[in-house]
Amino acid sequence: MSTAKRLPAFDKFIQELRAAWVVLPDTEARMRKARDLLEVLVQDESMRRTCKSWPDTDGGRRNLLFYEDPDYGFAINGVVHGANRKGSIHDHAHSWTAYGLLEGTETLERYRRVDDGSKEGYAKLEIETITQGTPGKVDLVPPFDIHAEQGGPAKSYGLILRSERVAGKVPQGNYDFETGAYRRVEGPTNVAYEITG
Ligand SMILES: [Fe+2]
Repeated sequence: MSTAKRLPAFDKFIQELRAAWVVLPDTEARMRKARDLLEVLVQDESMRRTCKSWPDTDGGRRNLLFYEDPDYGFAINGVVHGANRKGSIHDHAHSWTAYGLLEGTETLERYRRVDDGSKEGYAKLEIETITQGTPGKVDLVPPFDIHAEQGGPAKSYGLILRSERVAGKVPQGNYDFETGAYRRVEGPTNVAYEITG
């Protein structure tokens, strides 16, 4: 990816993340700072304009991969969700995730596990919180937090910062609320895509 072609607001975000990774001591501190930086980026007019040209990602569980840092490993993904999309309940294994909406609304569900984890392939869940995700808002998801993103009445565009790419490296938890079935599955396919402008 050549820096020259990158959208200036997006390039600034990457440089600010790299600076935060240098000075902050651990992943949690870095991701808390990154959440604030992402909140600025998802309100940027040039980002909100350019996301409209991104391809849909619902079919075949895909993430656009905009950037993966060669030194620190953090990864920046994008998703384009169709209206009324039914999101699966999942976790992101040991990685931290900041999820920001550029356009559209989504319902963000958080779950808590209430069984003792002793039964193989089983996890009983309860809903913890349901919040409305709106443009400009960023949700920070700690390691192994169980959650789902449900589509709103219109198409939605999300920007995701991960402390590291999980898909293709480590399986992630997948949960069925009704049956309690739990399994670890391969994460979404990453499709390289450049944010230019
Ligand atoms: Fe997620």
